[in-house]
Amino acid sequence: MDKFIINGDTPLKGTISVSGSKNAALPLMAASILADGPTKITHIPKLKDIYTFNNVIRVTGTHVQFDEEKNELTIDPSHLAHTEAPYELVRKMRASFYMLGALLGREGAAKVSMPGGCAWGPRPVDLHLKGMEAMGVNIELEAGYVIATAERRLEGKSFTLEPSSVGATINLLLAAVLRAREFTIHNAAKEPDVVYLCKALQQMGADIDGIGTGILTVRGVDQLNSVDFRNAPDRIETGTFMIAAAMHPESEVTLTDTDPQDLGHFPDTFKKTGAKLSIEGDKIHIKAPDIIKPVSVKTAIYPGFPTDLQAQWSTMMTQAAGPSKVTDTIYFDRFSYVPELKRLGASMKLDKNTVHISGGNSLGGASVMSTDLRASVSLVLAGMVAKGQTEVLRVYHLDRGYEDLEYKLNTVGANIRRIGGE
Ligand code: UD1
Repeated sequence: MDKFIINGDTPLKGTISVSGSKNAALPLMAASILADGPTKITHIPKLKDIYTFNNVIRVTGTHVQFDEEKNELTIDPSHLAHTEAPYELVRKMRASFYMLGALLGREGAAKVSMPGGCAWGPRPVDLHLKGMEAMGVNIELEAGYVIATAERRLEGKSFTLEPSSVGATINLLLAAVLRAREFTIHNAAKEPDVVYLCKALQQMGADIDGIGTGILTVRGVDQLNSVDFRNAPDRIETGTFMIAAAMHPESEVTLTDTDPQDLGHFPDTFKKTGAKLSIEGDKIHIKAPDIIKPVSVKTAIYPGFPTDLQAQWSTMMTQAAGPSKVTDTIYFDRFSYVPELKRLGASMKLDKNTVHISGGNSLGGASVMSTDLRASVSLVLAGMVAKGQTEVLRVYHLDRGYEDLEYKLNTVGANIRRIGGE
């Protein structure tokens, strides 16, 4: 397993290009299975989760070709012959569960393994299944698999997601666009990843009303055409680099290839720290504040503060000039990074789903352990401002969701070395 050795206390200066989004790409890849021919998707990041999903799709007989030089993926479902997504692959990545909606939509049948647990608490799929049943899909559970079948036209009318769920909205859309007579999803997710998917499906010929709102109505069509797409920039990578750029008082960074429209209220919250932010087209320029003002946040669905930036924000707040608190209302257990930051000298106390951060901590290098994707990157952020050397173990989590992370950060002044095979 690879690890990072970070020599810290280095300011970041220069330009970083943001990669294509993992969480927007996966639903677009699933949507390609619904098309009547090959789909080309550009701006696909080279990430472990993308390779995993490629393999999940290949099991069905679908042809998947990833041109890594061009970051371009071609998916051709013309020879799709199997409607199964096996446990060995689904357990590696929860989003493989999108195969349920995609296979049901195309073939009217799917056998998909239930996703396993996750490093940050229970992440159920009950809403995916109840929503499918409300659409009229027949669902049976057998030996850890969901076995689903659907008629040519499903007569179910509507389903309310409580809470709103990105994954369930995506799965229901994938099934409905070719199968539902008329199906309405209430309290649908409004996250940009869902909006991108809706627009892509629309381009393919799907009939969807209410895109970008909490009420999506789908009227099934008989066929979806193959279309070429450009994947969205990664909004979580953008937010992570914005935070990285604010954490050292001498840092000044420009992010390119971003989509500032996808950041919701995040830039406003970010400015409250005292960081200087200017946006020009797809570029975001950040100048770190001399002193970081403490800003408490609570995660919320889009356009609120994203749970995927919660760990990174807490890490920045260890450097603020006063106390703050960070609450996660979406995933209550997503705090495995807290004991690790404490090893670096942070003063933080966890109380249920809120972490109280004292602020003003000068961090010092130590060995810390990555436990999940966003927790891992928060340890890298901490290591970059810590005095001395920080060793971040098990960085394979990072490889699931950040393309060329150490390369990008090193080009703007970080000192991060990857050591393989530990
Ligand atoms: C997606 C993102 C993940 C992000 C999350 C929230 C991908 C691949 N992953 O995950 O990075 O952190 O959105 O923005 O895009 N819930 C249920 N029952 C269900 C489904 C969800 O109770 O059947 C709950 C969850 O426990 C959670 C909330 O709904 O409290 C939101 O989860 P959801 O939006 O579904 O997250 P994911 O789609 O898994």
